Amino acid sequence: MGLLDGKTAIVTGAARGIGKAIALKFAAEGANIAFTDLVIDENAENTAKELEAMGVKAKGYASNAANFEDTAKVVEEIHKDFGRIDILVNNAGIQNRKKVAELSLEEWDRMIAVNESGVFYMCKAVLPFMTKAMQGSIINITSTASKTPHPNAAICYGASKAAVTYLTKHLAMELGPLGIRVNAVQCGPIRSDMTDQWTDEYRAAVMKKIPLGRLGTPEDVAAGVVFLASDEA
Ligand code: NAI
Repeated sequence: MGLLDGKTAIVTGAARGIGKAIALKFAAEGANIAFTDLVIDENAENTAKELEAMGVKAKGYASNAANFEDTAKVVEEIHKDFGRIDILVNNAGIQNRKKVAELSLEEWDRMIAVNESGVFYMCKAVLPFMTKAMQGSIINITSTASKTPHPNAAICYGASKAAVTYLTKHLAMELGPLGIRVNAVQCGPIRSDMTDQWTDEYRAAVMKKIPLGRLGTPEDVAAGVVFLASDEA
């Protein structure tokens, strides 16, 4: 028996990185997986094949988290394909580390659209299905960057993730009475394509602050998220 047997999970931005590790861990616990990413390319197709090889139903959908119409459409499609939606992980996100003087208005708007509005859009789109079922678990992936400004970190990334923390607390309050749990996982620095782009200088500054002396792994995050997704939580 897996912790998530019979459940269907949506994981956004799961073609690679933390989202993919969450999808794999969910599949190992018996969940069927619908995942989204900007494009379903060879890499994303391979993710779907890896998931299917674990004996669950899995499908990747091209969908832009920053666009509400895309989001509403893909959620309808997933419900049609899978018949139920029990778990939503809002993982899709982007980062840049520009300072206020360097950041363009377009870059600000895009990061807010993906990291903050994207979470709201997905929650709004799954709500009718979870409300009807009177159950569900939503997990939003946020960041310790939302708590403490760092001299080399980006103003916009931290602000967008702080908004996700607030959204999570508010939604937990509003949706709890409907049987829907809403939690956030606030990750510290995790090894992924996102952190591979760091400069050596920034990496060295971050490493000084990590008592374990290593970055976290996507699997570390997935282990916590699977508990929150399960009925054990
Ligand atoms: P990543 O860059 O490896 O993966 C992000 C995924 O999201 C990619 O597959 C990408 O194509 C997808 N994506 C980006 N924009 C999208 C959009 N508009 N619509 C749909 N999909 C989109 O990054 P990583 O590290 O796996 O990050 C996953 C989440 O974890 C993000 O929300 C990130 O902010 C958060 N996080 C990451 C940390 C880290 O140190 N890596 C620390 C704290 C939070």
